[in-house]
Amino acid sequence: MNSVSLLGSANEPVVLDVAASAAPVRVPTARRYLMCPPRYFAVEYAINPWMDPGAPISTELAVEQWNALRDTYLRLGHHVETITPQPGLPDMVFAANSGTVVDGRVLGSRFRAPQRAAEAEHFRRWFVDNGYGAVVMPERTNEAEGDFAWTGTVMLAGTGFRTDPAAHAEAQEVLGVPVVSLQLVDPRYYHLDVALVVLDDRSERPLIAYYPDAFSSGSRQVLRRLFPDAVVANADDAACLGLNAVSDGRHVVLPVEATHLAEQVALRGFEPVFVDVSELRKSGGGPKCCTMELRG
Ligand code: ARG
Repeated sequence: MNSVSLLGSANEPVVLDVAASAAPVRVPTARRYLMCPPRYFAVEYAINPWMDPGAPISTELAVEQWNALRDTYLRLGHHVETITPQPGLPDMVFAANSGTVVDGRVLGSRFRAPQRAAEAEHFRRWFVDNGYGAVVMPERTNEAEGDFAWTGTVMLAGTGFRTDPAAHAEAQEVLGVPVVSLQLVDPRYYHLDVALVVLDDRSERPLIAYYPDAFSSGSRQVLRRLFPDAVVANADDAACLGLNAVSDGRHVVLPVEATHLAEQVALRGFEPVFVDVSELRKSGGGPKCCTMELRG
């Protein structure tokens, strides 16, 4: 019996019978991630609609949630590297914004907001100190994996709020991979990684999930053309930053509120793994924002 169970909102097990859908067997691959503990996490400025510097925030709870996220990766068999957090850089926990690594080549970042600018150099140092030979720092505004999603064949690249479209061409040149530009149109979904997630980056036909309304109509057409069988997320999935998920090809780590998206990925043979990131979401972040993948 091919069935998937996950916990619904009232903690009632929801059993999905996926036999009829003939979902492929999903095979996880061990990943290497770079993360930054949220020791100095705070919401001191507002550079996206999620951030309210007046609202209460618990750094302690953020640390607990981050520890649980790291432990989830370790339990799934992944390797986690950490970078030392720096005082005065409350958003440094969002490591995904500080580098794009493909085949061991590193393209660093250049932040749009001056409040985050200094993070880029700390990460550049980390790469150099950890044996990455070719580290290129971008000329154009580039928020790294916040706006770049590697599918295994092409690099999907977001623009509209943060990353400069000219950074897409720069990424193609530095990383030597084809880059497809996508236009983001909703300020709540200001980075590509809160509107789209790559579920499978190891097969000839990569699989993604995305929230269509976050994209311009031309970009929606591009996504439909490239990924006709993509998982389509709904407004509720997007509104809890459910697409800010991390997949190893089988396990999809995502915010606990993203129950519809979890059911959809389960129907495709993936195993949803829920984490609570309520505190990090107050800054507009989720599991993926906290996780830079070190490829190769
Ligand atoms: N407060 C941060 C910012 O606005 C959140 C970044 C979230 N990171 C991400 N990859 N989406 O820059």
